[in-house]
Amino acid sequence: MSKYQIVCTSNFLLEETQQLANFTQEIQLVTDINQVENLNNMPYLLIDERGLSIRCNLFTPIYIQDIYARIITLRQNLEQELLIQALKIKNKPRDEVIILDLTAGLAKDAILIAKYGYNITMVEQNPMLATIIYYAIQKNYMPNNAKIIFMNSLDYLRENDKNLTVDAIYLDPMFKHKKSAKAKKDMQLIQLIHEIENYNTDEILLFEQAMKTQTNRVVVKRDNKQQAIVSKPTPSFNKQGKTVRYDVYTHCL
Ligand SMILES: C[S@@+](CC[C@H](N)C(=O)[O-])C[C@H]1O[C@@H](n2cnc3c(N)ncnc32)[C@H](O)[C@@H]1O
Repeated sequence: MSKYQIVCTSNFLLEETQQLANFTQEIQLVTDINQVENLNNMPYLLIDERGLSIRCNLFTPIYIQDIYARIITLRQNLEQELLIQALKIKNKPRDEVIILDLTAGLAKDAILIAKYGYNITMVEQNPMLATIIYYAIQKNYMPNNAKIIFMNSLDYLRENDKNLTVDAIYLDPMFKHKKSAKAKKDMQLIQLIHEIENYNTDEILLFEQAMKTQTNRVVVKRDNKQQAIVSKPTPSFNKQGKTVRYDVYTHCL
């Protein structure tokens, strides 16, 4: 039985729910809420007339549309975003720029990049997170210049190898925060998923593989308390905010 579940108790929504379950083929469709396995605070998805939401014993429901609506309302001035400044590709129309986000998560960063007008391909290894992004694209919560691939990014880079040419690669590896009730619900979700999955993600290997890809720059998000991802090469420059910074490597390959 799959680990992840998506609940749908309405006949009207069954076809849409099945389509979501089919995207990764790793999420089981459940039509009776009593069948949900809630062991270890396991999160699950639920679809109702308000749309898709994330459910978990630890927090109140998170509706997917609210995640993206909040970002779009609060972050209008994209030129001011350090992430956009770090990824900035000059001398090319925005709609010709291709960014590869190898650590998609909930696509909260990716939506800014897509809204800015860059094409973005996201890769995410977790079926629940990949399905949420797939749903957000289908519903146009994300611009249609965004796409999601459900896969391990290291495999994606290795499989595509020489055929892959992108303007920039973005990496936002997991940062181990101290557990805090104050952490935003969506961040708690990603942390919880990582505890459940116990992913063995080697961020240095991913960075090194990204640097071997045909690209003009690799951008790595770091918490300000963290060192650069590797000691060499050092970042060409960085964009530093109050709590996070973006290390930019322009000498790739
Ligand atoms: C800190 S979160 C990224 C948050 C994201 N920037 C956002 O805006 O929502 C890191 C994500 O990268 C994913 N990830 C880490 N290593 C990966 C890999 N090798 N392949 C695919 N996904 C990976 C994790 O599953 C997790 O969802």
